[in-house]
Amino acid sequence: MKIGLGGKRALVLGASKGLGFGIAKGLADEGATVAIASRGLEAASAVAKTIGAKAFACDTGKLDQIEALHAAVTKELGGVDVLVLNSGGPPPGGAQGVSSEQWRKSFEAMFVGLVRLADLVLPAMIERKWGRIISVISSGVIEPIPNLAISNAIRPALVGWGKSLASEVARHGITVNAVAPGRIATDRLLQLDKANAEKQGKSVAEIEAAAKARIPAGRYGTVEDYAAVAVFLASEAASYVTGSILRADGGQIASH
Ligand SMILES: NC(=O)c1ccc[n+]([C@@H]2O[C@H](COP(=O)([O-])OP(=O)(O)OC[C@H]3O[C@@H](n4cnc5c(N)ncnc54)[C@H](OP(=O)(O)O)[C@@H]3O)[C@@H](O)[C@H]2O)c1
Repeated sequence: MKIGLGGKRALVLGASKGLGFGIAKGLADEGATVAIASRGLEAASAVAKTIGAKAFACDTGKLDQIEALHAAVTKELGGVDVLVLNSGGPPPGGAQGVSSEQWRKSFEAMFVGLVRLADLVLPAMIERKWGRIISVISSGVIEPIPNLAISNAIRPALVGWGKSLASEVARHGITVNAVAPGRIATDRLLQLDKANAEKQGKSVAEIEAAAKARIPAGRYGTVEDYAAVAVFLASEAASYVTGSILRADGGQIASH
């Protein structure tokens, strides 16, 4: 299979750990020149060193930081061929009683900033007639996840935007896709399991066991399980895949 990522330049957001870092490492392993960003520069710099990447500070909820990131990465790498849109997950909770301030804050970090960055990199991708935009989303866009209403509500906006964009830029050799994680073992998942344990008066081990029982593969996914799908979408081999949601969920999502 032709991966063809040697010489490509990738920017991965939310990548000092978890899914973002896994994707950054997967792309670097395939020969891409990688830049990673997260709010904390110290953590990003420490992990960037381990994969030969450049690290930048950027909060996806702050448009001035998104614009500064674009300028800095363009200067450092010369451009971006593969853009991975990722941010931190919102706080857990139900659909009722979320403050307007929280809705706005989450929407800015999980949608507005990401789309702005894509708009900044797209003109050069169009000129080069090659590009990959990959969004980290959630199984909640297909089946809403209990106690994660903000995620269930906001992520579908990124999917709708991506699907619209895919049809606009396909003729320029640019693909736009999303990867839906089921339950991938990261700090975020542990945090959610802890929150559910507290809410339900159970132990974290009980919550984990019940969750794994609902996953046909019988286990949580690894970051590598998830990253492999994103690396495929970034590859030359995936040039005819666009406007799609691929799932890395061990069969968890019950619908087609
Ligand atoms: N793991 C799963 O099974 C799963 C399932 C469904 C959805 N997701 C979603 O996938 C995304 C990544 O999840 P994960 O499990 O990798 O989470 P994680 O382990 O908590 O890592 C999140 C990463 O994003 C960075 N980040 C957080 N907020 C940010 C912001 N506003 N701007 C820029 N970077 C930010 C963090 O670094 P800093 O704190 O330094 O910024 C960190 O590098 C999240 O949106 C999560 O909700 C994950």
